[in-house]
Amino acid sequence: MKITDFYNYKKPGRKISMITAYDYTLAALAAESAVDCILVGDSLAMVMHGHCSTIAATVDMMALHTAAVSRAVKHKLVVADLPFLSMRKGLGPAMEAVEKLARAGARAVKAEGLDGHGEIISHIIGSDMPVMGHLGLTPQSVNKFGGYKAQGGDPASAQHLTDQALELERLGCFALVLECVPEMLAERITGLLKIPVIGIGAGSFTDGQVLVLQDMLGLYGAPPPFVKKYMDGRRLVVEALNNFDSEVKNQVLPERGPRVVSGAAAQGE
Ligand code: KIV
Repeated sequence: MKITDFYNYKKPGRKISMITAYDYTLAALAAESAVDCILVGDSLAMVMHGHCSTIAATVDMMALHTAAVSRAVKHKLVVADLPFLSMRKGLGPAMEAVEKLARAGARAVKAEGLDGHGEIISHIIGSDMPVMGHLGLTPQSVNKFGGYKAQGGDPASAQHLTDQALELERLGCFALVLECVPEMLAERITGLLKIPVIGIGAGSFTDGQVLVLQDMLGLYGAPPPFVKKYMDGRRLVVEALNNFDSEVKNQVLPERGPRVVSGAAAQGE
């Protein structure tokens, strides 16, 4: 899937699937799958590094994981998150962040929020680096929100989110992630925008869905409540590890073959 396909998919109602990937091995599996698009999300700070929020993600951390993912993904769009504060230190640092992610292999960046950095988003797009917007429960704003709380629940904030979504489209974003907003609001915004809206915890009327790979595989300990698990990954991995452990301790592994005699013994000395 290329950037240009995003517009083409919206009109006929062809849904878009996006999944996160943070390392070479799982990214190679995502590349092999039918999933449309790969996101190197800043949730890697939590899933890969054990931090309690995405605020810990840095540009260097994002670039390292983007490079690993890009080595595995050749024929799908790789989008990388601009991490916390990377758009709030002025245009120069923001463009340096974009450059690092682009040189690491990202073909587009995702930017959370809009208020206060619309001009920077516009400059990034004007520099030919495509931008995916991200509104609703933007995790980088968890401290402002006072926790991981659904957004857009009252008329004023629903209107503000709608205005922001329209503004991101006007600035030239090629797609929008809407996270944890009421289904009816997500449906309304999806209907208003010409660019595709990719939902996460935002109901079933968006143009596509995104999930964190470790969440949907059941590997991460604390996924958000809306996540559908497609595999009981933790159980499967722990079971495999316990099998290995028991085979080592019971001397089942390595399997015994004929004894290899080498050195002096082999020469009959
Ligand atoms: O970082 C992330 O995981 C995200 C989500 C939208 C999946 O941004």
